[in-house]
Amino acid sequence: MIPLLDLTRIHAPINAQLKEAACRVIDHGRYILGSEVAELEQSLQAYTQSKHAITCASGSDAILLALQALQLAPGDEVITTPYTFFSTVSSIERLGLKTVFADILPGTFNINPSAIIQAITPKTRAIIAVHLFGQSADLTALKGICEKYKLFLIEDAAQSLGASWEWQKVGTFGDVGTYSFFPSKNLGGLGDGGAMVTDSATLAERLKMLRVHGMEPKYYHKYIGLNSRLDTLQAALIQVKLPHLDSYAEGRRRNAALYRELFHEVTTLTASGDFSSLESNKLVLPVECPEAFHVYNQFVIRVQRRDALRAHLNAQKIGNEVYYPVPLHLQECFTYLGYEKGDMPHSERAAETSLALPIFGELTTAEIETVASAVIEFLHSR
Ligand SMILES: Cc1ncc(COP(=O)(O)O)c(C=O)c1O
Repeated sequence: MIPLLDLTRIHAPINAQLKEAACRVIDHGRYILGSEVAELEQSLQAYTQSKHAITCASGSDAILLALQALQLAPGDEVITTPYTFFSTVSSIERLGLKTVFADILPGTFNINPSAIIQAITPKTRAIIAVHLFGQSADLTALKGICEKYKLFLIEDAAQSLGASWEWQKVGTFGDVGTYSFFPSKNLGGLGDGGAMVTDSATLAERLKMLRVHGMEPKYYHKYIGLNSRLDTLQAALIQVKLPHLDSYAEGRRRNAALYRELFHEVTTLTASGDFSSLESNKLVLPVECPEAFHVYNQFVIRVQRRDALRAHLNAQKIGNEVYYPVPLHLQECFTYLGYEKGDMPHSERAAETSLALPIFGELTTAEIETVASAVIEFLHSR
């Protein structure tokens, strides 16, 4: 069996430190906003080179809080990608704002800046860019659009803490960057958690208040905020893992390079690709932009007979996952937005053809070779 992700392997070398950190918090008893929370925020600030880092209860809440901090008016439009995790869009809708979708670039799975420009209306106020699978969206283009049209930029970097664009960490280009510490993320906690970074003192102050019911001082509420604090226990555990984050990314990048070598013979053209004519005995590898440092939270290939390949890998007990089978513009709960099949063709095609393979750094070379052989064997079968 080869797992998609094995947290016990990742934690084995730091097991004693994790236990020590947990025991320390259990013993000192300050379980809500204990000193470990501020310490982690300082470490995140230093790691991302941002002026303020504020932790919260999840990556989903981080997006919601970031949007709320922008103080947009009901009905204001926010442009984002339909090819992302649910909470990028649920946050917009929960606040009474209007989601406007812009399709992805088929090569990188990230939002297409030209599609954003076409989607802009006089009511557009913000863009939420998602750095999907561990790779930055085109931040040069996105920053340019936001400056030209006077829009806010939120970066949903839930999958991309540690990734960069032209050597600057993602999350630090926009008004607010958001991260997730969900266990499967590159900096995964041992439970839920999230964080936001910003260079704006005003936004930082609002975010800090919003995560504690919009309250400051105690029992005086300026905003209708959330209860969304990162547990002290979680902060202490994540602090143990943070110094290892770059080596986790290196391990993933090493495995990605190994896959590239092993798949050489069955790889077909990638970049801007017309994926409608993907050959059935070939695969498309993840595209790396030259400006981006990819941290491979997921290693996502594209194949014509994706569901059959899944079945083949499942039969051999090789972990795999489909991110995401239904793009958000076609989700039942968003029917009222009025989108139909065919509106976002690149996202729809990606949903049909993409498959994530095991990539975490602690996989052995033999395991990567086994996964690659199973995929190649399938591609050669008819
Ligand atoms: C792109 C993206 N945005 C937001 C989230 C939400 O993060 P969380 O699971 O911590 O709420 C996730 C993670 O699942 C994600 O992958």
